[in-house]
Amino acid sequence: AAHVRAQPATTTSASSANAPAVVAAPEKFRRPMPLLPEKKPVGRAGKSDVYVMTMKPARAEILPGLTTDVLTYDGHFPGPVIRARSHRPVVIRQRNRLTVPTAVHLHGSSVPADSDGDPMDVIEPGTDRVYHYPNRQPHAPLWFHDHAHHLEAENVYRGLSGSYLLTDPAERALPLPRGRYEVVIALRDARFDAQGQLAYAMGDRGRNTLLANGVPYPYFQVAARKYRLRLLNASNQRRFELRLADGSPLIQIGSDGGLLTAPHTTDRIALSAGERADVVVDFSRYPVGTSVVLKNTTGTGPAEEIGEILRFDVVRAAPDPSRIPGRLRTLPPLPRPDTERTVVLRMDEGGEHPGAYIDEKEYDPQRVDARVKFNSSEVWTVTNANARAEHNFHLHLVQFRVLERAGRPPEPGEGGLKDTIHLAPGETVRLQAVFDSYRGRYLYHCHMFEHGVRGMMATMHIQ
Ligand code: C2O
Ligand code: CU
Repeated sequence: AAHVRAQPATTTSASSANAPAVVAAPEKFRRPMPLLPEKKPVGRAGKSDVYVMTMKPARAEILPGLTTDVLTYDGHFPGPVIRARSHRPVVIRQRNRLTVPTAVHLHGSSVPADSDGDPMDVIEPGTDRVYHYPNRQPHAPLWFHDHAHHLEAENVYRGLSGSYLLTDPAERALPLPRGRYEVVIALRDARFDAQGQLAYAMGDRGRNTLLANGVPYPYFQVAARKYRLRLLNASNQRRFELRLADGSPLIQIGSDGGLLTAPHTTDRIALSAGERADVVVDFSRYPVGTSVVLKNTTGTGPAEEIGEILRFDVVRAAPDPSRIPGRLRTLPPLPRPDTERTVVLRMDEGGEHPGAYIDEKEYDPQRVDARVKFNSSEVWTVTNANARAEHNFHLHLVQFRVLERAGRPPEPGEGGLKDTIHLAPGETVRLQAVFDSYRGRYLYHCHMFEHGVRGMMATMHIQ
């Protein structure tokens, strides 16, 4: 974010003439991880905070000495952080100053259908659109990203995503690390060409450069105390499995839909595309002057290149009044479900233009695939019918609970509110949601964007 100059992008960057023929993997831990800028409202209208955001091209220095053309919210790569409060509405005027249509979806939110960023409900270049977010839901680490039909995968890949932290009094009352000790980290992968441009190809398996807040393999200076890391996997497809290199514990306190009921100590956090985790790391176990690397243990590329993501350098002592309470929140008991339904995700394996399906159908924006009764509660049994390919599953509008994964109760990290879940090859997950907020048409889909573009997306109508 710190290195972005907002200016019209051209197809070839100015520095490309002198660029080396091949981009070597950037040297690790040479640049600090930037903090994502916080977006401030321009004013109030009634009870709402009003924001104005401009989608525009920009150039970012992502690789040393090269400039990369990116698509941005407000000139930032990745996008800024909006901090919102439950029951205090937000109104955002989105100005599309790009050359492609866009649609802005607030992932994890419960909003009226006409503010959900439906793929067909786009903002044409040169026009504006006002989105209304009532925020009538508890605290949650939401994020916003593009959702324009058939364009979302490339639009998000080129930079159209940002963070939206919704908070509420219950969350704020907890003595968790806050202020400079609460840090949003947006992780993603990318592939760069020899000129330093983002290379986009559908289903590219060669996205082997990992970015944390838009910078490849940065370092981050921390104090020897607890930090609350708000992690987001903003990748198009990649799943992360995050560990500290020394195997030290990570304390997961939250997931997509906010805090877990109790902290969960683990040595690894798995995040499929679109998922979030709220994690406390206690750096007081490290002497000042030492470092610890955050590693990823999944991937398809050379292990060297993708293993290490980010190095935490412990540079000073600091007082730490924060605490992690043993009880973080209470979740309401689930009602008896009114309906059960099954959803099958499947993709052709191989072929030049493999199809991707939900219940053997490709997405058709005109079709309603699931009719849901308003105010009802449903159990969805979702299966990945592929033997080799991974998928994940995202429901718009609701935060759901995982009842079972592969026939067993969910792991503690998936025991809270979720809006996106991973499905390993052949796996089945049962989840339950209550549809009591808005009526209308909303999407459900695989959040590996290229699968969605190929058709693994469907519409539910709540009425
Ligand atoms: Cu991140 Cu249709 O969603
Ligand atoms: Cu998929």
